[in-house]
Amino acid sequence: MIRASILGGSGYGGGELLRLLLGHPEVDVAQVSSRRLVGKPVGRAHPNLRGHTSLRFSDPGDLEPCDILFLALPHGQASAGWDGIEGLAPRIIDLSADFRLQDPERYEPHYGSHPRPDVVGRFTYGLAEIDREAVRRATHVATGGCNATVTLLGLLPFFAAGLADPNLTVVDVKVGSSEGGAEPNPGSHHPVRSGIVRPYAATGHRHTAEIESVLSRYGPPVRVHMSVSAVDMVRGAAALSHVFLIEPMKAKEVWAVLRDHWDGHPFVRIVAERAGTHRLPEPRLLAGTNFCDVGFELDPFSNRLVVASAIDNLVKGSAGQAVQAMNLMMGWEETAGLGFVGLFPA
Ligand SMILES: NC(=O)c1ccc[n+]([C@@H]2O[C@H](COP(=O)([O-])OP(=O)(O)OC[C@H]3O[C@@H](n4cnc5c(N)ncnc54)[C@H](OP(=O)(O)O)[C@@H]3O)[C@@H](O)[C@H]2O)c1
Repeated sequence: MIRASILGGSGYGGGELLRLLLGHPEVDVAQVSSRRLVGKPVGRAHPNLRGHTSLRFSDPGDLEPCDILFLALPHGQASAGWDGIEGLAPRIIDLSADFRLQDPERYEPHYGSHPRPDVVGRFTYGLAEIDREAVRRATHVATGGCNATVTLLGLLPFFAAGLADPNLTVVDVKVGSSEGGAEPNPGSHHPVRSGIVRPYAATGHRHTAEIESVLSRYGPPVRVHMSVSAVDMVRGAAALSHVFLIEPMKAKEVWAVLRDHWDGHPFVRIVAERAGTHRLPEPRLLAGTNFCDVGFELDPFSNRLVVASAIDNLVKGSAGQAVQAMNLMMGWEETAGLGFVGLFPA
């Protein structure tokens, strides 16, 4: 068994990490931090874990050395506290955007100048489906953003195979309220957020840089035109990506591209139903699971391929992706601790 700790364990990402790590066959959870809830049982922040563990929150300054440390802090805090963090564990997995983008030209337009450019190069991008071998070799991993993850897992096969127009991909993502974290703000207040379909980033979403950076590895530079809306759900991110095919394709050829690309990837499921209520991916079915479901429809009147993909933002979009990366880094089964298949109806 290895000893794992979580810095930032009272938030939504930290809570999901804790749930998954407590059920992991190879992991003992050593410490979980919160500044506000020092000494309180972890069930105070995560009522689903009541009676499941006797762990109490530790002050962040009291974290002791462990085998692997998860960082579930707001953007900027991992960089700001790095000098106190780095000696705590030989392996570190960060859920934030601090160390995801290696190229300052992609980072700066969205986040400003990087406070710790000296640290960025030590981190490997943690979405295992992009480069599993790199994650296996890594000691420091930055997991992908939730909207980037759901988009990339839909788009990747078509860009890797050179089938899509690199300048004209339009991505429309809908997200649930838990993406904003546990800290309330005026926009998350129930009377304001309930029932909404609110475009909160019609242009300029930060994850665009991450998506373009990954897709551009496979050929010419890729431009993605992304809009993100907040909708009335708690968990989930769903992307409709409008891909413009360079050459027309038949449906069975599109299936073959998806099948060939995702063969051997245990957490990407191709949704193949031709009819019925659930013929395209739907995030509600994925709540609590580490799956990304991917499906598509071809527009019969143009060369537009609509790729639909969905995840649970807190699992495949953050904590589950982090546990998957840990499994690879440690040489364990990639699926260890991630076996939950979801609920229906949920
Ligand atoms: N929510 C999502 O769907 C999602 C998906 C992918 C990635 N992420 C990323 O994951 C990270 C965590 O997100 P989240 O949604 O879990 O946020 P959150 O719910 O707001 O939780 C943040 C955690 O960090 C702690 N914290 C805040 N400032 C701190 C500081 N200066 N020092 C030590 N601890 C501090 C908070 O606890 P105390 O205040 O009690 O100390 C809390 O435990 C973010 O960077 C986010 O962008 C989130």
